[in-house]
Amino acid sequence: MALSELPSESHITLRKMTVADLTAVSTIEKQSTLFPWTVKHFEDCLKAGHEAWVICDNEDHIISFTIVQKVVDELHLLNICVQLQHQGQGYGKAMLNHVVQFAKELGSVLIVLEVRRSNTKAQSLYTQAGFNEMSVRRDYYPAEEGREDAILMGLDLRLLSLFGASS
Ligand SMILES: CC(C)(COP(=O)(O)OP(=O)(O)OC[C@H]1O[C@@H](n2cnc3c(N)ncnc32)[C@H](O)[C@@H]1OP(=O)(O)O)[C@@H](O)C(=O)NCCC(=O)NCCS
Repeated sequence: MALSELPSESHITLRKMTVADLTAVSTIEKQSTLFPWTVKHFEDCLKAGHEAWVICDNEDHIISFTIVQKVVDELHLLNICVQLQHQGQGYGKAMLNHVVQFAKELGSVLIVLEVRRSNTKAQSLYTQAGFNEMSVRRDYYPAEEGREDAILMGLDLRLLSLFGASS
């Protein structure tokens, strides 16, 4: 799904995330995840020069954000999140699609990410986009009770172009 296919596309913009966005970004993160990143974590990502974008409504309120890190010829998807009330409306798919396009333009060969085993919603978003499970990191995340596995997922962009898959 592209930005132009979203329901209210004429009011939606995608732009780079800035430090001024971090309070809003952190609020969205806290509402959507049990173990949210801290503001400092977001700040460090921006300071480190990682690419980060937000999707905003017509009043520049943030609906979704993502942060990626280029590691040699791979792109690591560090975070992707949609504001709770806007989940299930195609914004996650649109943002992920933007990341895939960016990776292709950059010449990356692989996009990789880690996702909690219990996060079946996100896994289904990634699987639909062509990601496959690559491996499991046992007890990687803190959980409400004990620890939880991370599933390492990857999208091989060379295979994607070989088989002529669209964006
Ligand atoms: C995971 C997340 C980014 C998905 O974004 P979204 O805008 O809610 O998802 P979309 O509306 O774009 O849906 C994309 C796909 O996700 C999956 N999905 C979305 N909602 C779902 C649900 N309630 N149950 C199962 N799968 C779901 C589906 O595969 C869906 O495709 P479909 O509509 O064609 O079936 C979003 O729910 C979120 O921010 N969750 C909290 C943070 C998080 O878990 N981030 C990922 C960390 S790895």
